[in-house]
Amino acid sequence: MERTDKIYGLAALFDSPDKIIHATESVVKEGYKSFDVHTPYPVHGMDNAMKLKPSTLGYITLVFGLSGAAFILLFMYWTMSVNYPMIIGGKPYFALPAFIPVTFEVTVLLATLSTVIGMIAFYFKFPVNAYPLNETNYMKAVSNDKYGVFIKSDDPKFDESKIRVFLTSLGGTNLELVYDLKKVTYDPFSPRFISVLVGVIIVVSGGTYVSLNKAMYLPPFNWMEYQFRGNPQSSSDFFSDGRVNRMPVKGSVARGFIPYEFTGVTLPENPLPNPLPVDEKVLQLGKRKYLTFCSPCHGDYGDGDSRMRGQFPNPPSLHTEKLKTWADGLIYHVIVNGQNVMPSYAHQTTAEERWAMVHYVRALQLAKNASEGDIDRFNKEFSANGK
Ligand code: HEC
Repeated sequence: MERTDKIYGLAALFDSPDKIIHATESVVKEGYKSFDVHTPYPVHGMDNAMKLKPSTLGYITLVFGLSGAAFILLFMYWTMSVNYPMIIGGKPYFALPAFIPVTFEVTVLLATLSTVIGMIAFYFKFPVNAYPLNETNYMKAVSNDKYGVFIKSDDPKFDESKIRVFLTSLGGTNLELVYDLKKVTYDPFSPRFISVLVGVIIVVSGGTYVSLNKAMYLPPFNWMEYQFRGNPQSSSDFFSDGRVNRMPVKGSVARGFIPYEFTGVTLPENPLPNPLPVDEKVLQLGKRKYLTFCSPCHGDYGDGDSRMRGQFPNPPSLHTEKLKTWADGLIYHVIVNGQNVMPSYAHQTTAEERWAMVHYVRALQLAKNASEGDIDRFNKEFSANGK
């Protein structure tokens, strides 16, 4: 590195951490402002001795952290409340609690990145890495086993001969006068630089283009990029109504789903038979679903003793002569289509669950109106099973 004859500062070495702390305190007391201390490892108490103020790096962190929070909140507000509002789980468009995790992450992201980049760019002055103390005997010593003080020539009190006496009196040795570096500038428009730059641009972009757009699409690969298709929610002039998304063909049935043919509240003349056998599993399923969906209004035992406290009209009992003689398919019909004020339970229950509930209603009816014969039959069956 070439140097000018302009003095950059004066450096002195010290032998022990005690001496460097003492020397630093004296330099501060003497009124020097533009100085620095170099030690091979962090020396405890040095911040106080140098009377260093807290770093200003935190302000960069604060500003960028707050900008991150503001940006992402605005972004989510715009996308989710203005540009494409969607109701998610019945929440308001601007659902702050749901936005907190993302806001937190972006705040942390911007704060940390700006801290690191800010430190390197503003404080270390990247990309400049030339520093007059580099390659001096002083720097070799303080990065090994010595402790050093360096007073810069831009200090208002800088006077070489006075500082020499002063530092020597503190125990300083190996005093070294450091000269400023010659400023090296590079011409960004020099033909050599420009031609290398253009060469790099051509090679990189050409190589990328050929490999990603040509080489990777050589037969037999076309990556399905070109195909006849319609993207969701886009338009199409292929269909006369201009829509890509088609309505299901009339009469389409979802897989594994058997449609119920009788719609509307009118009771069917030929109701479906109950396809399920009566066994313990079916009755347990029917009981569970009945207690979930029917008991709030019809009561746990079907007596019509609603738990709704007058918020919904009480239904009739399920133990009437009418219902006892109704076919299974009619009760099923009421569950699917509802009846007058009773709503449909088609969307909450599957066909199997509905038929199981019908069996359970039958069990309730039997339990409430058991005849002598039924009781005998019950006792016989259960004693035969040893229960
Ligand atoms: C929200 C309250 C409510 C719920 C829940 C409810 N029902 Fe009803 N249900 C009624 C009302 C009220 C009536 C009487 C409707 C009318 O006026 O025709 C009724 C009528 C009926 C009838 C016809 C009774 C008759 O005599 O005409 C049957 C059968 C029935 N419900 C079965 C069920 C089953 C099975 C469930 C469970 C899937 C169920 N209900 C759930 C309120 C309810």
